[in-house]
Amino acid sequence: MNIIAICGSPRKGNTEFTLKRFLTKAEEYGHKVELVLLREKRISYCNGCNICMREGNPCPIVDDAKMIMERMAANDMIVFGSPNYYNNVTGTMKVFFDRLNPFYSDKKLSGKKAIAIFVGDEVKSIDKAIFSVQSIANSFGLDLVGDLYLCASGPQDVERNAESVQKIDEFAKNILS
Ligand SMILES: Cc1cc2nc3c(=O)[nH]c(=O)nc-3n(C[C@H](O)[C@H](O)[C@H](O)COP(=O)(O)O)c2cc1C
Repeated sequence: MNIIAICGSPRKGNTEFTLKRFLTKAEEYGHKVELVLLREKRISYCNGCNICMREGNPCPIVDDAKMIMERMAANDMIVFGSPNYYNNVTGTMKVFFDRLNPFYSDKKLSGKKAIAIFVGDEVKSIDKAIFSVQSIANSFGLDLVGDLYLCASGPQDVERNAESVQKIDEFAKNILS
């Protein structure tokens, strides 16, 4: 399988580490992987022009969203990774989600697999955070085949916690081996 992971954290921290670890394991299981760090990309807000709602019409905004969407359409599995910010994805990820609107009409993601990975400092927020990715999956016909939620606050908390690292490895094994 070809797997693309998209990281919605505005910092080099737990989400980035988790995605990289997941992708390393995926490679070990024979999959081809790529990672997109949204914090390094130029992604403008959706302006609501709705031009993309007519099938075949590309988004008229010229920035990095186009290239990332092409890569998403070229892969079999999309991993959405975000810190939990107020029981949702980060603003960075939400701005990106809105720009995925062309997929609503062109259905280029339909039938692909998706995974949601969240990091947050409190466990009780898990359901609400994952709901945001479920909405995206439902809208674009993605099959959400797994989700992982890790508890962490400081940027290296996951990396330094052997139990968390083991959770990532087991999650990757269950989904990908
Ligand atoms: C603006 C903001 C809002 C946050 N809101 C929540 C929250 O609602 N629930 C939670 O569990 N953690 C919350 N957190 C904590 C982060 O999810 C946590 O620090 C996480 O490890 C950050 O991931 P990162 O290292 O990949 O950036 C929030 C952090 C920030 C900066």
